[in-house]
Amino acid sequence: MTKTDINEELEYIEKVKKINEGKNLKYNVFTMGCQLNENDSEKICGMAEKMGYTKTENIADADLVIYNTCCVRENAEEKLFGKLGEIKKQKEAKGTIIAIGGCMMQEQHIVDKIKKSYKYDVIFGTHTLHKFPKDLYNAIMENKRITDIIDIDGEIIEGLPIKREDNIRASVTIMNGCNNFCTYCIVPYVRGRERSRAPEDIINEIKGLAQMGYKEITLLGQNVNSYMRVEREKAKASMQESNEVNNIKIDSFAKLLRAVNNIDGIEKIRFVSPHPKDFTDDVIEAIRDCEKVSKFIHLPLQSGSTKVLKAMNRVYTKEQYLNLVKKMQEKIPNVKFSTDIIVGFPGETEEDFEDTLDVVKQVKFEQIFMFIYSRRVGTPADKMENQIPEEIKHKRFDRLKALYEEQIEENNKAYIGTVHNLLVEGYSKTNSNFLTGRTDSNKVIIFEGNDSLIGKVVPVKIVSEHLWYLKGEVLETK
Ligand code: SAH
Ligand code: SF4
Ligand code: F3S
Repeated sequence: MTKTDINEELEYIEKVKKINEGKNLKYNVFTMGCQLNENDSEKICGMAEKMGYTKTENIADADLVIYNTCCVRENAEEKLFGKLGEIKKQKEAKGTIIAIGGCMMQEQHIVDKIKKSYKYDVIFGTHTLHKFPKDLYNAIMENKRITDIIDIDGEIIEGLPIKREDNIRASVTIMNGCNNFCTYCIVPYVRGRERSRAPEDIINEIKGLAQMGYKEITLLGQNVNSYMRVEREKAKASMQESNEVNNIKIDSFAKLLRAVNNIDGIEKIRFVSPHPKDFTDDVIEAIRDCEKVSKFIHLPLQSGSTKVLKAMNRVYTKEQYLNLVKKMQEKIPNVKFSTDIIVGFPGETEEDFEDTLDVVKQVKFEQIFMFIYSRRVGTPADKMENQIPEEIKHKRFDRLKALYEEQIEENNKAYIGTVHNLLVEGYSKTNSNFLTGRTDSNKVIIFEGNDSLIGKVVPVKIVSEHLWYLKGEVLETK
């Protein structure tokens, strides 16, 4: 893997800081999209703070507003244009600096539209995140708009400052990009080719987090269980030695899980998103063996119809997906699943949709993220002729949602009386009389208790269910 040298770029952090000195400037970040974008935003915040800005949640107070964009579905685009329309007046009134970054900026037609119709100072992309300070500096000094988008691939950026949102749970990006090219999906075009961070960089980051008191780590990537695959294949071709950390060669996701599991201080390990096609036995066994690894697995289904899956380029059939679930249920005690489902992919018939409902009924997912298919410019599915009318898409979405809600109630009932070791996250945002934590399966639990429990893992018995949360009682600890 090629690590980009960013020392020159980082020098601009100091330069911006100098011109900002004594001005008491504030920044606001608006983040759209997935956890990878949220993790990128933590790096944007890290850079902004080092440049002398302090964070404000109130856009009206901000001297610098940064939009970190997503383009996975059309509604994300509409949202950004709405926001850019709103900020225009503020910029005219007090010269607010506007920076727009993220996935949507990797789409030429969007950048063209923004250049033509909206006000901004800096546009950066997914490959130029580290150049944000330099671009900002040039925009301020030269008083002109800077657009800094490149389309390179295979680069890894290390060493950006980071300001994390939380002090107990942290996300760690382990790979960038995607090589799967599911036919509906824009991500491979805007995030570039799949490339993995070096295991020693990941392990060192997590060890540092453990020392700072972090308890829960989420490993992030578009296809985490193919971690190091591209690098492994390259190494094989050139007969290179692969990476070694503490004498364990970490050249696969299974080995990475085991290595993270050995880090003292970390108590829970999660990961998103794996791809069903890469769920090899070594990964299943690592999940089973590693006591800290969550047994709640996100396993994106997308569709239950083998025909639609083929058209989506998902490379598995309905039966293979169900067999994988069965195998995991046999090998990993108490394993539970969440999933992503798209309704209304081009050519989806009533029968295909029923196949999706059938898989949902069989697997009884704990959580389903449901999406209406959205045409993305430049993807193969956008060019398919058999697009599904909006009305049918919405009807199918509602039917899936109804089935899901029925199942949540059923799943919830099975929790009553069970005991869960919960990491206490803090007071509940919706009811400050209660503490809150999540089960391994991401169910929100609220329970009575005091400050001293925050950050600790305590046993909680579930006493009642309320569709979107469960109520529990802390058991006496000895
Ligand atoms: N790499 C991850 C997630 C990618 S984006 C994975 O493969 O699971 C998150 C989810 O958005 C996808 O799982 C998919 O369900 C949904 N999605 C992606 N493109 C979409 C589109 N064009 N229309 C509707 N949903 C989409
Ligand atoms: Fe998109 Fe498929 Fe890659 Fe996920 S695996 S990011 S859905 S192309
Ligand atoms: Fe969106 Fe980019 Fe994530 S398109 S879903 S923010 S990778």
